[in-house]
Amino acid sequence: MEQLKQQIEQYKQEIAAFVAAGAEEVEQFRIKWLGTKGLVKAIMGEMKQVPNDQKKAFGQYLNEFKTLAETKLEALQASHSTVKDSASPSVDFSLPGDPMAVGSRHPLTLVRNEMVAIFKRLGFAVAEGPEIEDDWHNFGAMNLPEDHPARDMQDTFYIRKPEDGNGPTWLLRTHTSSVQARVMEQQKPPIRVICPGRVYRNETISARAHCFFHQVEGLYIDENVSFADLKQTLYFFVQEMFGKDVKVRFRPSYFPFTEPSAEMDISCLICEGKGCNICKHTGWVEILGSGMVHPKVLDNFGIDSNKYTGFAFGMGVERITQLKYQVNDLRLYSQNDVRFLKQFTGVV
Ligand code: PHE
Repeated sequence: MEQLKQQIEQYKQEIAAFVAAGAEEVEQFRIKWLGTKGLVKAIMGEMKQVPNDQKKAFGQYLNEFKTLAETKLEALQASHSTVKDSASPSVDFSLPGDPMAVGSRHPLTLVRNEMVAIFKRLGFAVAEGPEIEDDWHNFGAMNLPEDHPARDMQDTFYIRKPEDGNGPTWLLRTHTSSVQARVMEQQKPPIRVICPGRVYRNETISARAHCFFHQVEGLYIDENVSFADLKQTLYFFVQEMFGKDVKVRFRPSYFPFTEPSAEMDISCLICEGKGCNICKHTGWVEILGSGMVHPKVLDNFGIDSNKYTGFAFGMGVERITQLKYQVNDLRLYSQNDVRFLKQFTGVV
């Protein structure tokens, strides 16, 4: 009996001191002590030898030893077995997941993409250029020399404007006509491009004006390009954009870089011509400026104005978006209010 007790005490110490490096050693511990041929079982088997009057007390003693081994095994399993972890009640894999917030494209991006896609179907290529421009590409080349009164039509943010005229003038482009200039500089006719991009004008921010907005301008130069081509191209565009029922009208206008020039109105889609705030109760909304490229502009780029003619147009993406989605305040586009932006979720 004494020997047996001594043996058990030794075993207890061994169990208490055991440390496992991983799940494999935990399993070895289980087999050694609690397996069918393990030491705990073997010690339990010694009960037969114990005299009857001591069986109760000794039985308790042996049970304590068994519990010690079991508790130790549980502790080892908890810290090493991954299987045990995943089955623990704190993680329930059957619970539904947290919904993931779905982002959306900005309405201006949606409309810009749609505009570009329509003109691509007509064979227009996309051209892009810098937002910081020099005076020549934004104004000079487009037939707006230094003292031209039409410069006042577009209040300009100047980055560098030397008073004495020495050195280059840098500005934020006021229209993407500057990109048209860069295309004419680099390509020979036939030219057929659209120029989408952000432009800047020094205007007080309100619901109807902003210091930056977005344009899509177009340029088509070839032999025998006529005003009829201009009208048909733009009519095709608005029908694709707004549906077959939309009506158009052209009004004579003035731009230094086109002659003749025209502004195009479409029938008001909000009130269908009955009169509303958007169309200022006229039934028509202005959406773009256009015209036949001024011969001087062609000459500026060495394009023979006796051989080639061209048309150009320019429109604001914000205005088209306003008509398409009834957004009535320009400031909404840049405030990044998710309540506004998430209304376009799912639109592609
Ligand atoms: N560049 C003009 C503007 O920004 C638009 C336009 C482009 C007009 C081409 C005519 C031809 O207002």
